[in-house]
Amino acid sequence: MGVRDQILLLLEEGEGNWVSTEALCKRITVTRSSLSKYISLLKKDGYRIESSRRRGYLLQEASDLLVPRRIREGLGTRVFGRKEILYFTETDSTNIRAKDIAARGASEGTIVLSEKQTKGRGRKARNWFSPPRDGIYLSLILRPKIAPREAPRITLLTAVAIAETLLSMSGLEIAIKWPNDILANGKKLAGILTEMSTKGERINYVVAGLGLNVHTPRFPDEIQGKATSILMETGKQFPRVALAQEYLKWHEDYYEVLQSIGFEPIRRRWKELANIVGQRVTVETIDTEYSGEVQDIDNDGALILKDKTGRSHRIIFGDVTLR
Ligand code: BTN
Repeated sequence: MGVRDQILLLLEEGEGNWVSTEALCKRITVTRSSLSKYISLLKKDGYRIESSRRRGYLLQEASDLLVPRRIREGLGTRVFGRKEILYFTETDSTNIRAKDIAARGASEGTIVLSEKQTKGRGRKARNWFSPPRDGIYLSLILRPKIAPREAPRITLLTAVAIAETLLSMSGLEIAIKWPNDILANGKKLAGILTEMSTKGERINYVVAGLGLNVHTPRFPDEIQGKATSILMETGKQFPRVALAQEYLKWHEDYYEVLQSIGFEPIRRRWKELANIVGQRVTVETIDTEYSGEVQDIDNDGALILKDKTGRSHRIIFGDVTLR
């Protein structure tokens, strides 16, 4: 773990009390002057840290940080988030970190969280806007016993899990846009990036990455108007820790359904939340554009579209626009 992250975790453990400079320097083995440099970096990212020559350092408003200790407290899951939680104040992308530890054997249910991402990634090599402490950037490692071609099921399951979380906690009207956009009032509130590694005909691991805009007050010009946050929609600050815990619980429950009963109940719920069957849409894939009426979401999570000549197309990846 980086020095910055260690400092933050120790200050957070202080729960609103002063932590002495000596204690910090000793626990992390840094000099006073480098400690003060790291504190400046944290302050620059907006962490409200008070300094006193005599008393040391005090972290204000620690309660909304996604630190492992707070995530575990009152977490209602059996496996997810119960073992390893990898936490960063800053990282390139939680999906990159998760793939790295999954390749080295991290177990199912391991999660990676960061307060900020410098290379947050979306689908189609887009960026995911990831300012410090405004969103939830969470990657979950799974080792599902399904065939690689069935992996899109995990994307749909993840979309259902976050939609349920938002419906039960925020009171917002949430819709899913195939395959993995979560919308509120037609704007994007959350996105999902699932990545997988296979071993022959088996899945080695899937990383389900979730980006949820929670406190974001505004977005960069290119996405302003298309993206939204819970704060922008409700005017309220929702606690990120509680949102992350609720999401892990929904995800684990649906994941257990997938493994024990199968995909059908998830597909049914997805269809209710997406309300897309029967709609006229255009789907842009990497090389083709299809227009027509959505007939179904099949058992692998693919979109079945009937074009105006009556021909059916089975589409696995793409961007949907309602017509
Ligand atoms: C999309 O809608 O394009 C998908 C966005 C996914 C963003 C999340 S944030 C956590 C995880 N780490 C990443 O780099 N991306 C995903």
